Amino acid sequence: MLLAIESSCDETAVAIITRDGQKPRLLSSLISSQIEIHREYGGVVPEVACRNHAQRIRPLVEQALQEAGITLNDIQAFAATRGPGLSSSLLVGLSYAKGLATATGKPFYGVNHMEGHLLSPFLESEEEIPRHLGLVVSGGHTLLIEVEAFRRYRKLGSTIDDAAGEAFDKVGRMLQLPYPGGPEIEKAAREGNPKAFDFPRAMIHEDHGDVSFSGLKTAVLYATQKLDNPKAHLPDLAASFQAAVLDTLVKKTLRMAKKHHHGLITLSGGVACNKALQTAMSAACQTEGIQLQLTPPALTTDNAAMIAFTGLLMREKIAPDPLTTGINPNLALA
Ligand code: KG4
Ligand code: ZN
Repeated sequence: MLLAIESSCDETAVAIITRDGQKPRLLSSLISSQIEIHREYGGVVPEVACRNHAQRIRPLVEQALQEAGITLNDIQAFAATRGPGLSSSLLVGLSYAKGLATATGKPFYGVNHMEGHLLSPFLESEEEIPRHLGLVVSGGHTLLIEVEAFRRYRKLGSTIDDAAGEAFDKVGRMLQLPYPGGPEIEKAAREGNPKAFDFPRAMIHEDHGDVSFSGLKTAVLYATQKLDNPKAHLPDLAASFQAAVLDTLVKKTLRMAKKHHHGLITLSGGVACNKALQTAMSAACQTEGIQLQLTPPALTTDNAAMIAFTGLLMREKIAPDPLTTGINPNLALA
């Protein structure tokens, strides 16, 4: 049994995982979200986030143990996110997990948050991580990662400016929607016409996996400024913006999948809970005869289950990390 802590941004999360034969089994997975607190500021305030992590972490670990019906002594290894993320937030979870490992004399594993997202589509699978192309779209990252197997990753593309989720959140703010903008834009877009505004799809025809969303964001700003009553056009602005993001993500992913001969694509990270993205990616994959593996809905936005799953694979395949392991706010994946 392995206990994992996630505290890279504004969710404090704890999960306990084990294996039932070959199948990974979550004994508990708890998330204490701070979204309501940060909404007042229109984004995450690092100082507020780390104070809340520090208050919430101990009761959450106790609750996770209680839900799993075990005690701390039953845990055989500890894991925590060590990056990327907000440094003060990361420090809380990592220090707490290392403290538990020290006190109990059990091994510790420092997990890459983006690897957690990348592997999350396979949390319910008994098989080894298969060869595939992973699109990871979160608030801080947009990554196209070629996975040969666990720990054999190659970056085929990323954003050269804003992450997909960041673009959703910034455009959400522009349209005066509550934080985080992603789910709000998706909701507004349902009533709108995706062709109402002709927003740019940067680098969409170029033969590489990189994307860019900052020009799109500026285009939405200019379009909004030209309107007398932007509020009246909210659904069309949201739908047209969302269509440009999805079009870019789907086209780039399929291009790289074909170029590098992938028969399996995965979709993970917070933006992966966008239903329109799931539908568009699924239709494109079907046309090309490529299999699509989505992430279970509870595991798309930040959670500790994905950190526990990655920690479990690390425990099974590599040596533990020394207790001198520190945080790395800019930790890279590949
Ligand atoms: O993976 P995540 O929870 O945290 C990071 O690691 O960043 O992703 C959060 C991001 C936010 O930018 C949020 O707006 C976006 O995921 N998001 C969405 C949706 N739900 C969350 N974006 C578009 N559509 C959604 N339904
Ligand atoms: Zn995340």
